Amino acid sequence: MTELLKRLLRWRPAVLSSLDAYEKWASRYPPHAHNTLMEVEEAAMRALIPDLAGKVVLDLASGTGRYGQIASDMGARRVIALDNSPHMLRANALPWRGLASCEAIPLQSESVDVVICGLALGHLPTLQPAISEIGRVLRTEGCALISDLHPDLFRSGAQRTFQGEDGKHYAVEHYPHRTQDYVAAAKASSMALDDQRQPGMHGERQGHPIVVALRFRRA
Ligand SMILES: C[S@@+](CC[C@H](N)C(=O)[O-])C[C@H]1O[C@@H](n2cnc3c(N)ncnc32)[C@H](O)[C@@H]1O
Repeated sequence: MTELLKRLLRWRPAVLSSLDAYEKWASRYPPHAHNTLMEVEEAAMRALIPDLAGKVVLDLASGTGRYGQIASDMGARRVIALDNSPHMLRANALPWRGLASCEAIPLQSESVDVVICGLALGHLPTLQPAISEIGRVLRTEGCALISDLHPDLFRSGAQRTFQGEDGKHYAVEHYPHRTQDYVAAAKASSMALDDQRQPGMHGERQGHPIVVALRFRRA
């Protein structure tokens, strides 16, 4: 093996914090599924989204607003989009949007019917603060839909990478959480898992799962 090939195999992009990463990524992150993984993830989430007509929906860690737009198209009465990246929010066209962390949601308790949180909680080292905030803002019988990259992807050393506006490749900090970690955190916040999808690249039960999509119901 040549020295160059050895170096290429060892190459790892710089790992950025979520805030630094989305500053570089925002202008290349349109509010629709824009790669295969997102298409698989969105199909799994759509299979779990309940009837949203007349509902108050929180698109948590909304980014540029993909799920908020879907909720709006599905007839939600009000869609609130929150994210902690000002750069992602600047590219978000939803009318009700604000800068906030998943771990301190600036909404009243029991004020939301459905929380949708796509591809974001893996950026948090621990789940409990965000999950307990989700449980707090949900009304009784409300539900939370949460998706992320499948934790098994990271066992073999995979990283969450992207190409920034400057053309360079980066990785984003990511902490793989297992389904049982979500379930345990949700249980402590009066929520129980009531459905899930874990599709592979070509759909449900097709190869290794690449995505996890979970639906929790608030007791
Ligand atoms: C991969 S993007 C997903 C965006 C959108 N949910 C979607 O599915 O298209 C992850 C988003 O999570 C946001 N995020 C990361 N950590 C966050 C936190 N602690 N609080 C709020 N948003 C956060 C990032 O700024 C980014 O917009």
